[in-house]
Formats: sequence, structure tokens, C-alpha cells
Amino acid sequence: MSSGDPKRPVADATRVVSAGRRPEWTHTPDGRGVVSPPVWRASTILYDDVADLRRGAGGDTHHRWFYGRRGTPTQWSLADALTELEPGAEGTFLYGSGVTAVSAALLSVLSPGDELLLVDSAYDPTRNFANGFLKRFGVTTRYYDPLVGAGIAELIGPATRAIFLESPGSLTFEVQDVPAVVAAARARGVATVLDNTWATPLGFRAVAAGVDLSVLACTKYVTGHSDTMLGSVTAGPGRFAALRDVSFQLGLMAGPDDAWLGSRGLRTMAIRLERHAGTALRVAEWLATRPEVARVLHPALPSCPGHALFARDFRGGAGLFAFSLKGGTDASRAAMIDALDLFGIGYSWGGFESLAIPVDPARHRTAVPWTDRNPLVRLQIGLEDAGDLLADLDRGLAAHRAVLGG
Ligand SMILES: Cc1ncc(COP(=O)(O)O)c(C=O)c1O
Repeated sequence: MSSGDPKRPVADATRVVSAGRRPEWTHTPDGRGVVSPPVWRASTILYDDVADLRRGAGGDTHHRWFYGRRGTPTQWSLADALTELEPGAEGTFLYGSGVTAVSAALLSVLSPGDELLLVDSAYDPTRNFANGFLKRFGVTTRYYDPLVGAGIAELIGPATRAIFLESPGSLTFEVQDVPAVVAAARARGVATVLDNTWATPLGFRAVAAGVDLSVLACTKYVTGHSDTMLGSVTAGPGRFAALRDVSFQLGLMAGPDDAWLGSRGLRTMAIRLERHAGTALRVAEWLATRPEVARVLHPALPSCPGHALFARDFRGGAGLFAFSLKGGTDASRAAMIDALDLFGIGYSWGGFESLAIPVDPARHRTAVPWTDRNPLVRLQIGLEDAGDLLADLDRGLAAHRAVLGG
């Protein structure tokens, strides 16, 4: 019987296939079974008798049949698989969205009176959670330069309890010096939370790098098909109990159907990411040669702030990056995006299809003002043929030139 659990150390591409497929979740006691844990939908869990019910409610109910809100093997399988992808991790919790995962991670390490250091390049709803809920909860937030590196040590004050990182930033793609920030935080007993959605554990092993809580918007590459909202937090040593308590107390848990879609997506994530990253790099390099383009913000290119850190720390790339239009206007950017046939216009990313949106970081930045006036376009490169995407972008750039009268 293949349990899905190889006995020897294996590569990540193998791990995403095997992880989380415990035989007790896929097989009957006489050894027959299925490849993937099925969808167990449940609120009520039935017990044999009253003594069994009392045993069920005793102790830690994490990963145990107890009540639907604590999950079933469908959720536990994906959670375990994500833990297996982060060597050294204690455990993973699943949530109904990436934003819920960000909030739960922060609430597990912050209390009223604490200070949070939040990277200026963070995803906007992460900022909204800090500026809204956390502020009302009595936590103050200070924003810091994504390129601060070891200089973060000077920003850590007596009330600082957590540092939030997002690397690369999902709009502007600065790569952070995660090991340097982690070292400074550890020296002062400050927790680190990283939004690792862009790289996933396949591109950057957050827990091995010393990050305390690694957040994924599984909505993106884990599910991979633009049809599911899902988030996860994987906890490093000593951090799981607080994460579990916050998640239990707030009643947070992803639904079994969404978790199952996450598990199904995970099985192909390595090969999808390889293709996303390969095509995205080809498109980014092509854009860098175009006279209409001022700057390409792709971590694998030297034009991206933090590129050397990307080369040093990352084991793989992704399909999301941005570029700016030289001398462009809001109208020429809109014309460019509207002229594209193969790129959908929509938020989110990580699915099989390409997307393009205008982004305006100047509106959000507070620690380091965004001064580049060339309008930015963010591209999510899907699984289409690279030549077709380049031809489409060529049409888009012609529409931008037409608006500028060139
Ligand atoms: C970097 C990053 N983190 C978190 C999220 C939030 O994920 P969700 O949309 O699942 O709430 C997103 C969504 O776009 C994101 O881009």
C-alpha cells in the first residue's frame, strides 16, 4: 500500500505529491483505499457512547475528530502537507482566506500595548488590518522600508513585539533581507511573520530561515485555479500553541471543500510554478528590451530592488511581476491593458490564466514615498504559450503608444 509518505528524504517536487496522504485518512482498516483523502463534510461528529464523547472533548482537539469546526481529515491532510513543506515547522492552521491567515498570525503574537513593525510594501488589506482592527485593539503600527535589512535593529523599540515581512512585495517586488531581519528580531525576542505567498515554501523555506509564522494566501498558487479562497499559517518552533488558541477561540477553520481544492492544487504546484516562473522571466526579459518600458520589477532581474537577495536566498520564482511605462499616463496604461486579449483584468493571481492590472503604490506608501511617476502595470503570467503572450503584450504596447501620439 502506498501511504504517500516516503521513508527517505525526498525533493519538494516529490513531497507535494506525497505530503499529507496518511493511510488512516485514505484507507480502510483492511488496506483498500483511495489516492487522496475525500471530502468529509461535518458539523456533528458522532461518538460511540457517552464515555467516548467525554474522551473526545478532553485535551487538545487539534487534528482529532471532535466537532466540525476543528476540521476533518480533509483539512488536516492539507495542513500536514504544508507543514511537511517547511522543514522544522511545528504545524499549520488553515483559514477561509489569505487575509484571515494574516490576521490570525498577527493576533497570535500581539497584545494591547504592543507595537508592530510592518513593511511598507505589504499587501493593502494587511495594512488595513493593522490600521483598523489592530489599532482599535491597542496595537500601534510603524511602517518600515522594505530594504532596511539589518537596519531593522535600530527600529525595534521597547514595545515592539512583531515584525511583518512580505518578500517580495506583491505590488512593487522589493526583496527583503529576511535572514537579517529575523536575526535582529530574535536577538530582541520579537516575533517575525512573513507573507510567503509569492514564493511558497518551494521558492523560499521560511521556517528554516528562522521565520516564526509563515503565511500563504493559498487562494493563489496552492489552489492554482482562481476558484477558491483559502489561507494558511505554518508555525515555527514554539509558535503553534498560540496560533491554535487564537484560531480555536475565534472559530477559524477553512471549509472542507475549499481545503480539498487546496490539496488537489498542491499536487501540481511544483510543475505549475516552474512553468509560471519560466514564462514570467521570458516576458520580463522581453519587456526590459522594449523602448516603451521604463523599468521591470521582477526579482530575478537586476533592475528589481533586492535582486541580489533573491539570487542568494530563493530556490525558485513565480509568475507575478510589474513593469512601468516610460512617460506613460493613466490613459495610455488603461489603453494598453484594455487592448490585451489573453490577459484578464482582475485581482488575485496564481491561477492558470494571465492577468493584468494597473497598480498605484504612491497611494499606499507611508515610510518611503513612491516617487516614480511612470505608471505601473502588474502582470500575472499564467500557463499559456509564451509567444502568444508576447504577441498580445506587443499589441498592448502599441495601444499605449497610440494614446501618447507615437
Ligand atoms: C501577498 C498577498 N497576501 C495575502 C493576500 C490575501 O489573500 P486572500 O485574497 O486569499 O484573502 C493576497 C491577495 O491578493 C496577496 O496578494
